[in-house]
Amino acid sequence: MPRVTLEVNGQNRAAQVPAGATLLEFLHDGLRLSGVRAGCEEGTCGACTVLVDGRATRACMITASACQGRRITTLEGLAHNGALHPVQLEFLRHASLRCGFCTPGAILEAVALLEDESRPVTKRRIRQALAGHACHCGMHARIVAAVEEAARKMGRLHGRDDQARDPGGK
Ligand code: FES
Ligand code: FES
Repeated sequence: MPRVTLEVNGQNRAAQVPAGATLLEFLHDGLRLSGVRAGCEEGTCGACTVLVDGRATRACMITASACQGRRITTLEGLAHNGALHPVQLEFLRHASLRCGFCTPGAILEAVALLEDESRPVTKRRIRQALAGHACHCGMHARIVAAVEEAARKMGRLHGRDDQARDPGGK
């Protein structure tokens, strides 16, 4: 089996994975990173989301070899000097967890959104970003509330509540 080396959470990490293995297989099966969840494995549930060069990416939809030389961040790499990321803190405060299966992917999606300074963050954009993250425990509204609060605390939330202009809530 080919050996692939990637920068994961600031360190070069190597694993032997089958030819054509996905980034999900590399991280979850090869490196045993439990914060990378294997859900649908066909790009629809969002559970496997990680950051690739800061962008939210479904790890089941890209090969590990395509990520050579790129910066991968998983849930395990989000805390800084022992301090949780503001998004992680708000997930804890809003009790947005039940089984927690969807949580890492939703957190990383939110981190990518809130740390992208090229575009303003609104409640509508938060809902859009999280719409593709399935939560079978019915925690979706709490997850959105946690991300809104993190955006507020990071000074990234712009505009008034656009609920009136966006009755669909997506
Ligand atoms: S496991 Fe990748 S999107 Fe569902
Ligand atoms: S908390 Fe269980 S799937 Fe979301």
